Amino acid sequence: MPAVFVAVLMGSDSDLPVMQDTVDLLDKLNIGYEVRITSAHRTPEDTREYVQDAEKRGCAVFIAGAGMAAHLAGAVAAHTIRPVIGVPIDSGPLQGFDALLSTVQMPGGIPVAGMAIGKSGAKNAAYLAAQIIAINDEDLKNVLEDERAANAESIRQKNRDLIR
Ligand code: RP5
Repeated sequence: MPAVFVAVLMGSDSDLPVMQDTVDLLDKLNIGYEVRITSAHRTPEDTREYVQDAEKRGCAVFIAGAGMAAHLAGAVAAHTIRPVIGVPIDSGPLQGFDALLSTVQMPGGIPVAGMAIGKSGAKNAAYLAAQIIAINDEDLKNVLEDERAANAESIRQKNRDLIR
């Protein structure tokens, strides 16, 4: 069986400052990944070829970040039945609202899991991909549970620091 990995795709190198948060979290969670720049509009054939090849090689989840008329996640979803997570990027004059609608408003039958605009969405894309993989990976499930507990404790600590 091929090794499981996550494909992190983005429409342009200008998306990387946001999508770097996805990559950093996958590193922290010790999940294998590939990162590619590929565009639904500018390189549609490259996108299709990559998705079909990646699925054959063991890609478990696709994450697609794009801005403006952001069709990358939908274009990826058109070529795979692996889960596709879309991250709307806040590039362009509409500050990501255009990308949010373009990412989430998919027609019935071709789902994309739409995240929040920008860095929160980029982080949650990595967590959601990890949670999907953890369905069949007990070690990763434990890592995610520990991470949740640490997250809760950091909020409790902030509360203790604030109380006056
Ligand atoms: C989208 O257009 C990309 O995902 C990016 O967010 C936006 C602008 O791209 P560049 O003009 O910076 O290459 O396709």
